[in-house]
Amino acid sequence: MASQLGTHFPYGGVVPELASREHLRAIVPVVRLALERAGKDLGEMAAVAVTAGPGLVGSLLVGMTYAKALCFARGLPLIAVNHLEGHIYAVSLEAKRQGRTIELPALALVVSGGHTHLFEYAEGPRYRLLGRTRDDAAGEAYDKVAKLLGFGYPGGPVIDRLAAFGDPEAVPFTLARMKGNPLDFSFSGLKTAVLRWVQARDMQAEIEARKALLKRNPKPSVEEWLAVTPKPTLDLLASFQRTVIEELLRRVAQAAELIGARSLILSGGVASNRGLREEAARRPLPCPVYFPSPELATDNAAMIAAAAYPKLERKEFADFSLKAEANLRLA
Ligand code: KG4
Ligand code: ZN
Repeated sequence: MASQLGTHFPYGGVVPELASREHLRAIVPVVRLALERAGKDLGEMAAVAVTAGPGLVGSLLVGMTYAKALCFARGLPLIAVNHLEGHIYAVSLEAKRQGRTIELPALALVVSGGHTHLFEYAEGPRYRLLGRTRDDAAGEAYDKVAKLLGFGYPGGPVIDRLAAFGDPEAVPFTLARMKGNPLDFSFSGLKTAVLRWVQARDMQAEIEARKALLKRNPKPSVEEWLAVTPKPTLDLLASFQRTVIEELLRRVAQAAELIGARSLILSGGVASNRGLREEAARRPLPCPVYFPSPELATDNAAMIAAAAYPKLERKEFADFSLKAEANLRLA
């Protein structure tokens, strides 16, 4: 596996130009290493699956061009996968390994840095978009709050770990009230409420202390974070996290009832959130919940292969006119 977090870290977010350059640099060694670890040879491959979108177009193009070249050189079929379908299929890999079957129709929540989308996932497969964020994605809200408070990037993992030390009821954030589709999400109001909370206090010194910590050590331990994060800030983080979880789970429960879901799938980077997993286990949800393990929750190639496998069985191949699409929709 290759990670670009170190590259983007100093900028507090993903820089598109750097991302495509890193993809270009990593793609050949990563494929080689993946084959080596799997004990496989390129000659044993049945097809090449590639993400067609949505995503940063520069990065998508690197994968697309490489996949097409590989298929052309080896005479292999090409399979196009939607990134969001990949997130949904991340859970099927593990369910299969555990001998569990995901009963359909399922309600799938894809919750990441770019998406907060609720889909009905039925036999076919057939996808129907039930609700989506109207502004920030949940992961984006985590990342922006973390940046504001000097916690670096990405924000989700650190806020998740520190939230356990705060009081989730301390700051009474209000839940978003949606006009129109009640299954849509909104996180910009919460983000603004956090900003107001910060502006009403003198927090510059502690924010600077955290930035200084990050400069010394890009991966601080929980103890190191706690040493530069006073209780009121921990309470803020816990309350922010509780509100995000509430926004997500209350729509999941509503949507599951609406479609008569037989399974719930929670996937994408934010689905590795411990608070979310604990709360989902505690609530009386109407059907079994599937979470991918944390390494399959954030972006990875195995989930793309998992989504491609049924397409291979159906011989649903793409031709070389396939294009990378930044805003490719699943439904
Ligand atoms: O799915 P992903 O790896 O990439 C996208 O497709 O966006 O998701 C990345 C997002 C980031 O916003 C990151 O802050 C968030 O997932 N994330 C988390 C956690 N781990 C990653 N958010 C909340 N809690 C976590 N434990
Ligand atoms: Zn993703």
